[in-house]
Amino acid sequence: MSVAPARRLRGKDLVGIDPLTAPEIQLILDTADEMAKIAERPIKKVPALRGKTVVNLFLEPSTRTRFSFEMAEKRLSADSLSFSSSGTSVEKGETLLDTARNLEAMQPDFIVMRHRYAGSPHWLAKLLKSSVINAGDGAHEHPTQALLDAMTIRRRLGRLEGLTVAIVGDLEHSRVVRSNVLLLQRMGATVRVAGPPSLVPAQMEAMGCEVHHRMEDAIAGADVVMMLRIQLERQGKMNFPTVREYYDFFALTPERLRLAKRGCLVMHPGPMNRGVEIDSRVADGPQSVILEQVTNGVAVRMAVLYLLAGGNGEPTAD
Ligand code: CP
Repeated sequence: MSVAPARRLRGKDLVGIDPLTAPEIQLILDTADEMAKIAERPIKKVPALRGKTVVNLFLEPSTRTRFSFEMAEKRLSADSLSFSSSGTSVEKGETLLDTARNLEAMQPDFIVMRHRYAGSPHWLAKLLKSSVINAGDGAHEHPTQALLDAMTIRRRLGRLEGLTVAIVGDLEHSRVVRSNVLLLQRMGATVRVAGPPSLVPAQMEAMGCEVHHRMEDAIAGADVVMMLRIQLERQGKMNFPTVREYYDFFALTPERLRLAKRGCLVMHPGPMNRGVEIDSRVADGPQSVILEQVTNGVAVRMAVLYLLAGGNGEPTAD
């Protein structure tokens, strides 16, 4: 499947992968490849978003997403401010809608938001004039994570089409898996998923994934193995007997990695539970691209901001 890239994004927001066409995804990835060149320069800054204002509204914890959005905004010369629940009127009980309306009254161009409720960015995007970017909504979607994962795979393996990607772990509570399945399938990849039955929602089969409950079956011959974090904070109860047992059946170890295709990429969105879903010898091994994912996250977020702003002019011009 060779798609001609789109010239621009159609929507004002990026709240999920589903509304994006394959040409739009290709446009974002091609633009991110250009944005990545800025990080190679002595002065890592261009004026592409000068005069634009971004509010980073993070009402759930984040390290990679929050700081890479902030880095992306600075590299594009946008003015940005970051908002978390601690130290703001959210602590006094102000609602999300009132918070967002008050922030929008200050006329920002973008609101980048992370929230524990699935669908909250979609809801706000309909109510606000600002462009809303979903930085993770509950266990629903994390579109910029899927885009940076796709960028990482494409830069390493040269394509997405025809690849087999195995996603293993806590699928039930993962927003990363939903966005990745939508994106990878749209770009012509096959997605296998694996996890204990208690952590594999029926939705995975309905989304067209190959579902496995033996990790070995999912990773055999795979081009990419993407490990997901066990999200104990989202589980009301333990969905498996013990962490030790989970490691024995579902951790990516050097022995299991040998079942995948030679040169298979090892990915993880972070934060990792070392010794639970991934062995440190693999996480820090030669096939790991986990820190490249973080690096590419800045470029992808620059591309999304730039394109949603209209994508005018040469993005990488000084
Ligand atoms: N991958 C990811 O979303 O990490 P953070 O929760 O640290 O942002």
